[in-house]
Amino acid sequence: MASYVPKRTMTNRDLEKTLDTSHEWIYERTGIAARHIAAEDEPASALGVRAVRDLMAKHPIAPEDIDLIIVPTSTPDMVFPATACIVQAAIGARNAATFDLSAACTGYIYALNTAATFIESGFYRNVLVVATEKYSSILDWTDRTTAVLFGDGASATLLTRSSDASGILAMDSGTDGGKCEQLYIPAGGSRSPVTKETVEKKLSTVHMKGTEVFKNAVPRFRQTIERVLAAAKCSIDDIALIIPHQANVRIINAVAKDMKVPQEKFFSNIEHYANTSSASIGIAIVDALAQGKIKKNDLVLLTAFGAGYSWGSTLVRW
Ligand code: ACO
Repeated sequence: MASYVPKRTMTNRDLEKTLDTSHEWIYERTGIAARHIAAEDEPASALGVRAVRDLMAKHPIAPEDIDLIIVPTSTPDMVFPATACIVQAAIGARNAATFDLSAACTGYIYALNTAATFIESGFYRNVLVVATEKYSSILDWTDRTTAVLFGDGASATLLTRSSDASGILAMDSGTDGGKCEQLYIPAGGSRSPVTKETVEKKLSTVHMKGTEVFKNAVPRFRQTIERVLAAAKCSIDDIALIIPHQANVRIINAVAKDMKVPQEKFFSNIEHYANTSSASIGIAIVDALAQGKIKKNDLVLLTAFGAGYSWGSTLVRW
């Protein structure tokens, strides 16, 4: 595992200078104090490659031994080719197949579950998941209801066949596509290609019904956590740490309260990064490891909810 965030930090106080907002409002409603913002010439692929290089320094693997690269992202460098192709070329993984995965904030979980299935089937041995996001490129920086929520960052995870009891024990995923317009980017795709009008109306930026997202997130998080526990025949008491997608600390606390689980069981680092979408869980795992919160053999539950709506969980024995 490795992660990377851009050097530039933007605090809530910085945002006060350009938006009608305050540190207190943002921090109380979301738990966010700061976020990292990529440079103009630093696309999502570049963030991902930085994370991969750190991972390869820590866990040496020959690039040509990587069989598949999956890049979950909502902010690809281009519509096509896949950002995974750009990552592949940059790291010299010449034998790897590649694809991007579009599942918004749930992308990391979908990618882990896909990678695990490929490995378990015997089709691939080494799968690299590079979750990378440059949300700063799809925000309307004049809209205080969304601009304060997101940040840029990346994580890299190498999955391989395990020879001991560690690994992915169970997975869950789901979708409710009927509510897709509660959190979406209206234009820029084939339904509404970019025109002068879509640019003027800022339709290629994130649009969100925040209260609806909140109301849907809490029960879906609970549902997917309970389903993955049932699939593994485990109880919540068996879990050492839950690492949720870092959407909003109030959502995380509401899930903990709803499930009657102590808040400390849910890891959160959103204060420093804001919501980095598909990258958030990987960044959180790296921080949790650095803080000594995950030990060998621990059961760690990864869980996410995001646009789609989509949700999912992965239960891992570390
Ligand atoms: N600063 C100051 N005031 C603000 C800001 C801001 N940044 N944003 C909104 N307001 C104002 C609104 O304009 C509104 O003012 P009004 O009463 O005069 O109309 C007031 O604050 C209350 O607005 P609400 O939208 O009702 O605020 P709420 O308490 O619902 O909090 C929030 C908004 C934080 C977005 C909340 O709805 C939420 O957390 N939703 C979940 C959304 C989320 O986490 N999205 C992340 C992406 S999705 C994912 O990753 C799962």
